[in-house]
Amino acid sequence: MIKKCLFPVAGYGTRFLPATKAMPKEILPVLDKPLVQYGVEEAMQAGLTDIAFVTGRGKRAIEDHFDVSYELEHQIQGTGKEKMLEGIREVINTCTFSYTRQIQMRGLGHAILTGRTVIGDEPFGVVLADDLCFGEGSGVLDQMVKLFKQFRCSIVAVEEVPEDETHKYGVIAGEALSDSLFRVTDMVEKPAPGDAPSNLAIIGRYILTPDIFEVLEHTAPGKNGEIQITDALLQQAQDGCVIAYKFKGQRFDCGSVQGYVEATNFCFQRYLAGEQQIGGQSGLAN
Ligand code: UTP
Repeated sequence: MIKKCLFPVAGYGTRFLPATKAMPKEILPVLDKPLVQYGVEEAMQAGLTDIAFVTGRGKRAIEDHFDVSYELEHQIQGTGKEKMLEGIREVINTCTFSYTRQIQMRGLGHAILTGRTVIGDEPFGVVLADDLCFGEGSGVLDQMVKLFKQFRCSIVAVEEVPEDETHKYGVIAGEALSDSLFRVTDMVEKPAPGDAPSNLAIIGRYILTPDIFEVLEHTAPGKNGEIQITDALLQQAQDGCVIAYKFKGQRFDCGSVQGYVEATNFCFQRYLAGEQQIGGQSGLAN
């Protein structure tokens, strides 16, 4: 029922300079696969095969990654190296890719609003590819799509974070519907120490209903002068309903060096345990 997934990838990735000076952070590899491919595979597993990127200057490598490289393919044709491209070929053959550019970096909310032309009037997923997620049982986005079928409103994935880290996230307050589900009553973007309404932080996975675009059109710049998706979601929560979902699985903030190294170690352990493959296989069978 949900087919489209938006990947806002226009950000500068300043926390990862100088690596991100000439290369998008979404292309950073964890083991042998770029972050963005993990994200697209997660969307595919959830049945979201219309992939839409909100790109910016310097992000061409993402477009090239999800395209055929004729020279390279010709070069390795008939050799043992061909299998190194099997996983990405499967992704390219299964999904469609569209791109639109965010001209000015005016925040995540603005990036999502920029995606309106490619999403249109239907519910859609949002993946921030620098948040690398490994779901338990099924992918995090897949877990959220199942919930959407039940609630039919916007859903944000949340995780409990230590109190001294809440200032890095959008943080929710909510009425508990179960151990893992909350009806959102408040949302604060990057709260000052002591101002966080809970320790439930929003991570980079969302299901959004299309009325979010209308709300974003009228959302004034908030924290740091950026148009914040949390402000628009709070409006949706006040007008109707937004669900926060404590997902099953693990998430790594690969936009930071520490999170990236932790993700790499985690994946290498999975590889040693035979739970993740390298050598060009997609994660779809894992
Ligand atoms: P982040 O703040 O994590 O990403 O934005 P960033 O700005 O790239 O990284 P740092 O903080 O400077 O290191 C969250 C997501 O929103 C996208 C980013 O690409 C990232 O995936 N984003 C953010 C946009 O697409 N456009 C924006 O104007 C802002």
